[in-house]
Amino acid sequence: SMSKLSNSRLALRSNEFLDSSRNSSAGTAANSGNGSNGNSSLERERTRSVTSYYNQSAIDAAAKKNSVRLTPASLLYSGRATDENYVLRSAQYLQKELPVRIAHRIDDFRSLPFIIGCNPTILSVHELYIRAFHILSDYPTVTNLAEEEQYSGVVRQLLDDHKDVVTMLAEGFRECSRHIRDPHLVRQFLDKTLTSRLGIRLLCEHHLALRQERPDFVGVVCTRFCPGDLIDSRAAHVAKLCQMKYGLAPAVKINGNRKAAFSYIIQPVEYIVTEVLKNAFRATVEHNRAKVGSLPEVTITVANNDVDFIIRFSDRGGGIAHDIATSIFEYHFSTSGKHSDENESFFDRVSESRSVGPMHGFGFGLPTSRAYAHYLGGRLTFETMQGVGSDFYLRLRHIDGKGDSFRI
Ligand code: COI
Repeated sequence: SMSKLSNSRLALRSNEFLDSSRNSSAGTAANSGNGSNGNSSLERERTRSVTSYYNQSAIDAAAKKNSVRLTPASLLYSGRATDENYVLRSAQYLQKELPVRIAHRIDDFRSLPFIIGCNPTILSVHELYIRAFHILSDYPTVTNLAEEEQYSGVVRQLLDDHKDVVTMLAEGFRECSRHIRDPHLVRQFLDKTLTSRLGIRLLCEHHLALRQERPDFVGVVCTRFCPGDLIDSRAAHVAKLCQMKYGLAPAVKINGNRKAAFSYIIQPVEYIVTEVLKNAFRATVEHNRAKVGSLPEVTITVANNDVDFIIRFSDRGGGIAHDIATSIFEYHFSTSGKHSDENESFFDRVSESRSVGPMHGFGFGLPTSRAYAHYLGGRLTFETMQGVGSDFYLRLRHIDGKGDSFRI
């Protein structure tokens, strides 16, 4: 059966840990604090997660439960209370919800084709989730603010421990790309894993942010999100990367509802805007570099109405060649494809944060962006004019508007 298969697979890896498990009392990041005792604490954690491969009943049980998804509007309105009860209820919701969601992730790792699940990089992400499951599901129920603070510390640490998950998955799938028989299956796995992870992280960050009084924020919801301002700051960031890589960068012009501001969750929009901008910048520089004169600017138009908001990114980067245009939203793992090497390495070495991952351009950035847009109940589409340039459209519904919102 499936679980037997998983067990034997995991035995491949666990032998090396079995000896050390006898003389180590299983500790976790949760109770050993910041892990300052370095390797030995890490080793103990691994021992614990590996032994748990053999004892999965808790994970199986949690994976059978449905997750309880919240609307952003409910985060916004129920989160306004600053009273102790609210913070406690929020922590208790997380305590119930996180193990269920993480168990679903683990279930999906177990369902990967055997040879892919055996890849050491993918297996180590699988292990991270098993470890997180045990840390969180073994945690005693929080009953007062002092305990809540401890619990929040554990959650914060886990967010940090998992910050490289996207990069690791991209690397893992690249390493075993020649074993990928059914790209569709991997695509579904990645769409689901990446968007579900986005939801998990947003719930965690929301809880952590509730305690901090920050003007214009209720937890993770910004009550005065201005897309124009976000585009400004991300464009400045991408221009810096582009300068480092090419020695020049196009200007950005923002028009339309430049000043529009409303309630929204910034993180996923920030990710998408950054990825689409990188793409537009790269195309602009590569297409126009040899020409005399200044680079054509990247023009961004913001539209806002009571149902949704739309951001259009227009570049004069020559458009996307016909044979590539059909696959820019595919996850690219292969290093042999004609549009992988150069594009995927673009900005990689100058990326300042590993948490964003080295897979930019036509690697992971665009498919992840589209998956995020779908998760938010929106769309990321493009139209390209070969020889001239491309337009990307990001369309997202308001969280407190007329239409239905998504659920986190
Ligand atoms: C992730 O970032 O991969 C998570 O699922 C975070 C969670 C373990 C707190």
